[in-house]
Amino acid sequence: MDIDYKKEIDRLKKDLDVTVVAHYYQRDEVFEAADIVGDSLELARRCQADGKEWVVFCGVGFMGQSVKILDPQKRVLMPKIACCAMARMMDGSYFEESVQYMVERGIKREDILPITYINSDASVKAKVGEMGGLVCTSSNAFKIIEKGLESGKKILFVPDRCLGQNFAIQMGLKSCVIGVEVDGKECDPKEADIICFNGFCSVHQLFTVDDIEFYREKFQDIKIAVHPECDPSVVAAADFSGSTSQLIKYVNDLDPEQKVAIGTEYNLVNRMRKGNTYVLSSTKPECPTMNETTLEDLYNTLKSIEYEKPINEIFIEPEVRKYANMALERMLALK
Ligand code: 13P
Ligand code: SF4
Repeated sequence: MDIDYKKEIDRLKKDLDVTVVAHYYQRDEVFEAADIVGDSLELARRCQADGKEWVVFCGVGFMGQSVKILDPQKRVLMPKIACCAMARMMDGSYFEESVQYMVERGIKREDILPITYINSDASVKAKVGEMGGLVCTSSNAFKIIEKGLESGKKILFVPDRCLGQNFAIQMGLKSCVIGVEVDGKECDPKEADIICFNGFCSVHQLFTVDDIEFYREKFQDIKIAVHPECDPSVVAAADFSGSTSQLIKYVNDLDPEQKVAIGTEYNLVNRMRKGNTYVLSSTKPECPTMNETTLEDLYNTLKSIEYEKPINEIFIEPEVRKYANMALERMLALK
């Protein structure tokens, strides 16, 4: 007999001391089964405040890790331990190489303040925390960089070069990307305020200035809203840039007749699609790892708690947890 996953998930949620959490990029059926939904900052905050013993996190690896780092007493399971492709671009040794790059060009280690996008592995967050640095998300990066600058140190921003550059532009700061030459000149940390690691999100690289021009030609008064993981040229040509929650608010606040094209993951844009909302790309911008989690995976994970044989549980080494927690708590302390 076929299992009615939706019904069974509802039953298991009633029977177990569990909160099901989903990021906005999850498939609709998974998203609808969640008790808490949000952008990465909201999910970190709300899980920390949640009283249940078990968290079943439908998202990508760094999100489940963040919940465990912030509260090691929680039992965190992920229906799929799918790793964000951008987070995979950096590990502890790439981080050390980036610090070394700056040191070799005349910046002392103690004069570097690292900031890591929350889309990073716990080991990278730990390195950042150990050096006195902080985590940021796409919704609070401005505030976090502003705070970082108060230290008077050079900011090493990892792993997303686009986020680092976009906020540098917004704040009137100079940035450069390690390994990327501009006009034949390599990144000089002495000349820049923010030195970025060369990581990126392949989903958000799909959106181009050509896509924006296409829509502006098609509909004269259309608004363009994009995520700050898009290339700086795309953010500069858009009307608005913000985190997933900020994009939702921007679109909801528009007049219903206002046409808008949105540059972020497909599941979220599709959910927002009422007559006047368009996907800013001719290629379907799906995040493969966010899409890995199915309703069946969620059911199997809840069932594993019921059977007292939990699957895909997140564990973090105590030493890594200690420093990664410092970096996360420094972010959360900034209201
Ligand atoms: P948010 O912080 O906006 O939720 O973004 C997370 C993410 O992975 C975007 O690609
Ligand atoms: Fe990572 Fe990009 Fe997917 Fe976001 S959309 S989870 S940054 S790969």
